[in-house]
Amino acid sequence: MILVFASNNEHKIKEINSLLGDSFKLLSLHDININEDIPEEEHQLEGNALSKARFVYNASRRDVFADDTGLEIAALNGLPGVHSARFAGENKDSSANIEKVFSMLGDTMKREARFRTVIALILDKKEYLFEGIVTGTIARTKKGTKGFGYDPIFVPDGKICTFAEMDLAEKNTVSHRARAFEKLKEFLLKH
Ligand code: IMP
Repeated sequence: MILVFASNNEHKIKEINSLLGDSFKLLSLHDININEDIPEEEHQLEGNALSKARFVYNASRRDVFADDTGLEIAALNGLPGVHSARFAGENKDSSANIEKVFSMLGDTMKREARFRTVIALILDKKEYLFEGIVTGTIARTKKGTKGFGYDPIFVPDGKICTFAEMDLAEKNTVSHRARAFEKLKEFLLKH
């Protein structure tokens, strides 16, 4: 099955390719000649994922999926959430984003958080949503050098180390993205 993945992020495309397996051929936005930035202006992950998928569908008329992920911290009423990438500014600086989380949380004991990934799929002109969640806590200091984004401060429930201390295979056994893509794969294989 051939699907467009509404992304040009090589790292992500590789990761999703390995999660979905050989039954699928993924095309990137470059592959179908979409080179502009797709607007992400919605206030929820679902809205953003859907608007990216619709944008690509309208431009290409191909089956497509798009994803959007956010870190939702309970003590911050769900922030950074949909603003995760640009929490501390337009340049998407992960260290600055983490510092902003630390300064907003202070020394509170309430450190529950979750990562949530939403995938929007347009297949045979119909729209579907899939969700993956991993719950955990925000650490008091950064730990680990692997991964990206908020990985150095997120400890998933049931583990004692942060995502940035795990290799990708271990992260994928519990991660929000792996769970969401597992649901997508199951759906596509049955379709
Ligand atoms: P995206 O929707 O996958 O581009 O994710 C938006 C932002 O959420 C990223 O820029 C990261 O800051 C954060 N993020 C998403 N997934 C992860 C993850 O697996 N670990 C850490 N941070 C993540």
